[in-house]
Amino acid sequence: MSFLYKSDPERGAVWARLFAERAPAVDFRIWPDVGDPAAVRYLAAWEPPENLTEAFPNLELVFSVGAGVDQFDFSRIPPGVPVVRMIESGLVAGMVEYATLAVLAAHRDWLTYAAQQREAVWNPIRVRTAGSRRVGVLGMGVLGQAVLTTLQGFGFPCAGWSRTARQLPGIDSYAGEEGLDAFLARTDILVCLLPLTEATRGILSRRLFERLPPGAVLVNVGRGGHLVEPDLLDALDGGRLSAAFLDVFDTEPLPAGHPFWRHPRILVTPHIASMTQAETSAEVVLDNLRRHREGLPLIGLVDRRRGY
Ligand code: NAP
Ligand code: GLV
Repeated sequence: MSFLYKSDPERGAVWARLFAERAPAVDFRIWPDVGDPAAVRYLAAWEPPENLTEAFPNLELVFSVGAGVDQFDFSRIPPGVPVVRMIESGLVAGMVEYATLAVLAAHRDWLTYAAQQREAVWNPIRVRTAGSRRVGVLGMGVLGQAVLTTLQGFGFPCAGWSRTARQLPGIDSYAGEEGLDAFLARTDILVCLLPLTEATRGILSRRLFERLPPGAVLVNVGRGGHLVEPDLLDALDGGRLSAAFLDVFDTEPLPAGHPFWRHPRILVTPHIASMTQAETSAEVVLDNLRRHREGLPLIGLVDRRRGY
């Protein structure tokens, strides 16, 4: 019985060590060293190999090594094989750090000061209190909730938006299409932490930007497919939005010459908001293997119908 890992080899080496200690009966293999394909029962991948079913006929469980599963083509994974996404403390901590950094940078006019420094301009902007800056997070899942709870601690009035209603102490929550207008109307800094699905693709569009207060800021840490890129450029250039912090893009790496690279009101990072951490993620995967063996509910089981 083997476990095939197809992702970052450095993390793979840590998983191999922890599997050897904690699950010695499992033959842990790192792609492309697949061994006997018929022995592969478990697969962990960022992007799964082609022809999954034909290549590994006895597959029982598939893990995404990331929180998102939009990179998976579910039609190529047999319906009886559960897909589990990554829920682990290291990934949560990284996202909380990045989102906090971006929201604070937006709140304290960091892009403006970086530009002013390049021109040797000394121009103080009046400091506003966190209490006067409303933060809204699209997605109140594992990551969205952790981000909201942290930002609330700075004194930002916080709200979240989700598909089904979620309750979080001290956070205003809005749900579904019917809750979106009111959520956007009260949001000065918008953080996108949605999964990319058929329902959320292209959600960060002109139509949405027009429903935010003028001068709002966008932080996109969900997926590039959430954003309609030309609409963002129009919104920034027309003053509808005042800045954007972007970690994810339709095409990654962001192509040389893309207008986002040199836009004065955009900060680009190369999809690093958060990363699955080797030790903590191995613990979660080992726990899920045990759960699978014992017929217990899996942590992070993906609902294929919903797409997340
Ligand atoms: P999650 O726990 O599954 O949470 C997803 C949230 O989005 C839930 O609150 C869900 O609503 C909401 N949602 C989904 N579809 C919706 C819709 N159509 N309308 C309104 N709300 C909707 O996911 P997570 O672990 O927080 O991760 C979120 C995403 O972050 C990932 O899918 C990935 O794309 C992104 N991510 C990015 C990075 C990075 O480095 N940039 C790192 C990790 C993750 P319900 O609560 O009603 O289900
Ligand atoms: C990274 O983007 C992830 O989904 O974990």
